[in-house]
Amino acid sequence: MNFDTESGDESAVTADFVASDGEIEASLRPKDLDDFIGQPRVLEQLQLVLAGAKMRGGTPDHILLSGPPGLGKTSMAMIIAAELGTSLRLTSGPALERAGDLAAMLSNLVEGDVLFIDEIHRIARPAEEMLYLAMEDFRVDVVVGKGPGATSIPLDIAPFTLVGATTRSGALTGPLRDRFGFTAHMDFYEPGELQRILLRSAGILGVDLGEEAGAEIASRSRGTPRIANRLLRRVRDYAEVRADGVVTRDIAKAALAVYDVDPLGLDRLDRAVLGALVRSFGGGPVGVSTLAVAVGEEPSTVEEVCEPFLVRAGMIARTPRGRVATAAAWAQLGLTPPPDAAMGGIEVRPREPQLDLFDGERPES
Ligand SMILES: Nc1ncnc2c1ncn2[C@@H]1O[C@H](COP(=O)(O)OP(=O)(O)OP(=O)(O)O)[C@@H](O)[C@H]1O
Ligand SMILES: [Mg+2]
Repeated sequence: MNFDTESGDESAVTADFVASDGEIEASLRPKDLDDFIGQPRVLEQLQLVLAGAKMRGGTPDHILLSGPPGLGKTSMAMIIAAELGTSLRLTSGPALERAGDLAAMLSNLVEGDVLFIDEIHRIARPAEEMLYLAMEDFRVDVVVGKGPGATSIPLDIAPFTLVGATTRSGALTGPLRDRFGFTAHMDFYEPGELQRILLRSAGILGVDLGEEAGAEIASRSRGTPRIANRLLRRVRDYAEVRADGVVTRDIAKAALAVYDVDPLGLDRLDRAVLGALVRSFGGGPVGVSTLAVAVGEEPSTVEEVCEPFLVRAGMIARTPRGRVATAAAWAQLGLTPPPDAAMGGIEVRPREPQLDLFDGERPES
């Protein structure tokens, strides 16, 4: 088996940001709440939070944006600052290694600023503890000196709104999570929403994209605007080089076949994960780390990049004993599912229970 996933050979459907997304993403970002397509619940809640704060003339509660990569968390943070008419200060969890880095950032804030911390779950412990006080009391304690002579100097900071983004809200500590007044969970987009996003992007990029072609690309975009926009650029290349530049459904299909994006938007790594789960482990249950070794990837990549979509597509079920392939996964690989294969999306009972959670009789499923 050759699960070749080394870097430099980027999948067209990775939801992660890749360098070539750079400038184009900026031009395609929605600029205000009205421009933002999809996530109707989050939009409505956020509109209330922002309008309430504006009416009172204060700063809104701290806001946590959680959800898989490429769904618009960074875009949303920028929109929040734009809607409040304030400026956005941008940093990320990994950049805040020392508490001093954060103290410098915080003490430079102007009243009403939005401080955006991307990947906030990766913030170092000392910085996180400093953030508690800053979020609650708009104050930091700066420790000066070392050893017995060290003193802590309280420093007031301007009232600000923290917007945190995370792809792993579960990895956030309780105290940090509790300090956010509002958590917006961004979910995968519906194909119809992605189609609208694609038509909007095509307009900005000057691509002649038909409605049907938009639907075709949307259905292969794994519910993710970043992927949709990237596939649009690949399809545009194909249309310009091999045709007259007009993107029809047939052109879109032919282009996506070249880039190895199947009709469900699965790429090679997804297919490798499904293939290993089904062929090497008989459909599971198998632990995510074993599965990751089998495909030569980091467990976190399998867990954060592949799994959310495969679970959502009803092909993998997460069970207490590990990952299990559903009947849909077997079918996707062109194999006949065994009679006891789980149906898509349904929690399955482990085959050999190690930890019996039931007292007495185990209910039959
Ligand atoms: N609702 C939307 N409407 C239109 N375009 C969108 C929308 N959401 C996201 N996009 C597009 O997807 C791209 C990626 O979005 P963004 O960078 O905000 O995602 P993210 O959630 O911050 O991802 P990451 O977790 O990797 O940081 C944006 O450049 C934008 O072009
Ligand atoms: Mg982002």
